[in-house]
Amino acid sequence: MDQRQGHPTLGSDAPLGVGADSTRRRLRQTSPDQPRPAAHARRPDRAAGARRRLRQRLPQPDLAGRGATVVGVEPGPSLFDFAIEQESIAPRGIRYVHADLCDLPDLGGPFDAVVASMVLPAIPDWTGAMRACVHALKPGGLFLFTVNHPCYEQLRPTWREHGEYRTHRYLTEHEIPGPNGVDFHRTLSTYLNQLTSLGCQLTELAEPGLDPDAAVDGPDGIDAYVHLPNFLIVAAQRTT
Ligand SMILES: C[S@@+](CC[C@H](N)C(=O)[O-])C[C@H]1O[C@@H](n2cnc3c(N)ncnc32)[C@H](O)[C@@H]1O
Repeated sequence: MDQRQGHPTLGSDAPLGVGADSTRRRLRQTSPDQPRPAAHARRPDRAAGARRRLRQRLPQPDLAGRGATVVGVEPGPSLFDFAIEQESIAPRGIRYVHADLCDLPDLGGPFDAVVASMVLPAIPDWTGAMRACVHALKPGGLFLFTVNHPCYEQLRPTWREHGEYRTHRYLTEHEIPGPNGVDFHRTLSTYLNQLTSLGCQLTELAEPGLDPDAAVDGPDGIDAYVHLPNFLIVAAQRTT
């Protein structure tokens, strides 16, 4: 992701389809209960609120600010327009491409790193999207993706209701309706086996928990995140 190496980074610090901002927050393990950004143009009624939240969440510093050449991919028109607007207000040298990960134009890779933060669960044809991410990498490149932890989805609502985590289905893929659109549940092995089949080697898994201090005086059910991981962060290396 260093310009000097001549390989740009596919991803963005803006909250886009392929983005790194909330991944970094998840790694810091401080605030897993943040509202999630709007995902789809098919929910334009929710876009304005999401854009307001996103504006408050743009991180600094960022990959582009640290010298990476960053390309951000976003298919949703409102989020894409928002990113372009932010880039014009505070330029970071990020090039945004209005595209679908399942039908990517030539982005000018290969890339040193691809970051897909909370993107794959939103995509029905996620295997095509993951393939596109991996194929955008140079050999040895880093693929980092995050999902809601497949073993503990809807963690806080169930914790609030039962005082513990409960689920009644894990093995079958199913839709999870959310405020900003539908996500898809897949098992942990589904994601990891697909990664392997694409020629990636797992380098690190992270299951961050919330710092107990951050849960003090938090909203109802926030302590669920102290005891169980809300997110799964996967790092892998393209080997071929
Ligand atoms: C839950 S949001 C995550 C946003 C941001 N990356 C973050 O971590 O906060 C899901 C994102 O995936 C994007 N997305 C959905 N389907 C996509 C696709 N087929 N190709 C690329 N991005 C997609 C949505 O537009 C949205 O920006």
